[in-house]
Amino acid sequence: MDGLKRQAAARALEHVRDGMKLGLGTGSTAKHFVELLGERVRAGLRVIGVPTSEATRADAERCGIALTTLDDVDRLDLTVDGADEIDPSLNLIKGGGGALLREKIVAAASDRMIVIADESKWVEVLGRFPLPVEVIPFGVAATQRAIGRAFAESGNSGQMMVRKGKDGHVFVTDGGHWIVDAHLGRITDAPRLAGLLTAIPGVVEHGLFIGLASTAMLAGPQGIRVVDRP
Ligand code: A5P
Repeated sequence: MDGLKRQAAARALEHVRDGMKLGLGTGSTAKHFVELLGERVRAGLRVIGVPTSEATRADAERCGIALTTLDDVDRLDLTVDGADEIDPSLNLIKGGGGALLREKIVAAASDRMIVIADESKWVEVLGRFPLPVEVIPFGVAATQRAIGRAFAESGNSGQMMVRKGKDGHVFVTDGGHWIVDAHLGRITDAPRLAGLLTAIPGVVEHGLFIGLASTAMLAGPQGIRVVDRP
């Protein structure tokens, strides 16, 4: 699986040109991209990156990639990131690693987003992977009730729970927020649900990435399948 992730990352690297401003994703697949990009940088490629998490910042610095922020650059040319699920419209679930907020801000500031993954992430309908919803800790029970109403209104249902870390304590994001993971099974009308979740006070962001990905690069045993957004 790791080899497939690296192959997808290597294919995305072919789209990087000298002088580009890049969004650097988070997760095990994006980490391969950062490492491969670092090799090119050490061989003379000039790029500047905006990391989507503190973990990616550390990786990029270790690899010698120059970094900036969205305060200092206007638009990014390209973001390369992983995903937890990808559907045929190239709508995504992201946030399994908890970095969805910065990932979405960076993707939205990019002219293009290439999603890299092994083919197991490809699904006909989003929702088998629990949908992460990033929330403010204050009033979390009220926010969860509102999330439940958004599910019902969009024809969805399922259990949700506040994410815990490996240490058993509540998982806290880079932004100091919590994550509610919603087990929906099959998401009905993901674009509508995305809008309903965004409108809830207390919801900072959610893991539905609608219309943000331009291309998916899916690595499987037979090679890499490149899918453009229809
Ligand atoms: C991080 O918050 C996520 O959005 C990741 O991009 C996603 O979980 C994919 O991670 P892997 O590449 O490790 O599967």
